[in-house]
Amino acid sequence: MLDGEPYGPAFARAYDLTYRLRGKDYAAEAALVARVARERRPGATALLDVACGTGEHLAHLRACFPAVAGLDGSPAMLEVARAKLPGVPFVRGDMRDFDLELRFDVVTCLFSAIGYLASVGELRAAIGAMARHLVPGGVLVVEPLWRPDQFLDGHVSAEVLEHDGRTLSRVSHSSRAGRTARMEIHYLVADTTGVRHFAETHLNTLFTQDEYLDAAAAAGCVAEFLPDGPTGRGLLVGVHQTTRGGKQ
Ligand SMILES: C[S@@+](CC[C@H](N)C(=O)[O-])C[C@H]1O[C@@H](n2cnc3c(N)ncnc32)[C@H](O)[C@@H]1O
Repeated sequence: MLDGEPYGPAFARAYDLTYRLRGKDYAAEAALVARVARERRPGATALLDVACGTGEHLAHLRACFPAVAGLDGSPAMLEVARAKLPGVPFVRGDMRDFDLELRFDVVTCLFSAIGYLASVGELRAAIGAMARHLVPGGVLVVEPLWRPDQFLDGHVSAEVLEHDGRTLSRVSHSSRAGRTARMEIHYLVADTTGVRHFAETHLNTLFTQDEYLDAAAAAGCVAEFLPDGPTGRGLLVGVHQTTRGGKQ
């Protein structure tokens, strides 16, 4: 999904406002993730958020983990993150294949960013890359996309969000072809300077719970699937056992 794909500048600039007004509670989600990680690694201090977007989870997670870093494929999302969290290292990279030459106590990948991967092979590559950035005993926390049986083909939604003299209309349509979920989202943003329209198409893969668990096991993690998670989609949680699949 890198150049020319979703998460371009217009969407990145509207991202935080959109999700704040839609009621996404990053503080509560970060608290849950921190609790899940701390239960498995009480002394954790270093955390990497993969596909960190605009850094909203990191803004809260850094209260619990003094050394945080973020990685994302979108320059526009990273620009917002860097402006928000000066001093936090943000790296542009592809979750399927990255090497920061660092190890963390916790590696997260939240809000279903993992769904952007196109195949089970890519899922395994990404989980493998995340696990290689964990110390032995480190914790992997991945929020999946919906399972194939949960996805609503043909779902439409429309919202008008207003804040501080700015309005944002969001209209979406979701459809499905096999294991691929396609979401088309149109935005109309109006402020004192006028009205702008932009649209993005997001392609995601509906992986099964077993595919997530198998990918984590192949990456050397003992993993479980928690049923609820930050947004009701569940949570893959793994503890890295060995040096398998990566250098230490
Ligand atoms: C739904 S947003 C989630 C952002 C952030 N985790 C949050 O909770 O707000 C998905 C993010 O995944 C990133 N992304 C998608 N595919 C990627 C890839 N292959 N490598 C790195 N980042 C990717 C996008 O740039 C985007 O910022």
